[in-house]
Amino acid sequence: MNISYSQPLADEQATCRFGAQLVNLIYPFTHEHGVVIYLNGELGAGKTTLSRGMIQGLGYQGNVKSPTYTLVETYHVAERDIYHFDLYRLNDPEELEFMGIRDYFSAQAICLIEWAEKGEGVLNSADLFVNIDYDNDTRRIELSANSTLGAEIITQLQQHPITL
Ligand SMILES: Nc1ncnc2c1ncn2[C@@H]1O[C@H](COP(=O)(O)OP(=O)(O)O)[C@@H](O)[C@H]1O
Ligand SMILES: [Mg+2]
Repeated sequence: MNISYSQPLADEQATCRFGAQLVNLIYPFTHEHGVVIYLNGELGAGKTTLSRGMIQGLGYQGNVKSPTYTLVETYHVAERDIYHFDLYRLNDPEELEFMGIRDYFSAQAICLIEWAEKGEGVLNSADLFVNIDYDNDTRRIELSANSTLGAEIITQLQQHPITL
């Protein structure tokens, strides 16, 4: 599958805004095992910033902190469960089994996963891959589809590009 969408992100605020619009586009889509998004990019690329934009963009008013030490932070907002993972510090994918990872992939879930490669073999596969790359002082985001659901979301994005 090669359905993708790419856009520059001038600064942190642009990344937040992108996230807010993206999540509102994703919101109507549900799937038996949730909507699964892998967030890829180097440390400091903006994965957590994008997640914050998505969670607050759904209407969550509180603080969105990085799940670096907790592995996952949960937000219940707009009748969806958002699970924001950061698996950077995961030593063994098996730890995810002990966490009861299966329960996170439920119909109302939107799973945002930083460092998903650390959970390889245990995590559900992604519907969408999001890559954030450094471009000097700015960033470029690229989304690509990895499922039929992901392709539907990208098709929507292509038809209604995000304006920042
Ligand atoms: N376009 C941009 N989008 C997101 N963050 C940016 C951007 N430009 C600069 N930054 C800075 O980069 C850092 C991104 O941090 P963070 O979102 O925690 O990254 P990650 O989760 O990928 O490690 C922040 O300090 C932010 O201010
Ligand atoms: Mg992060």
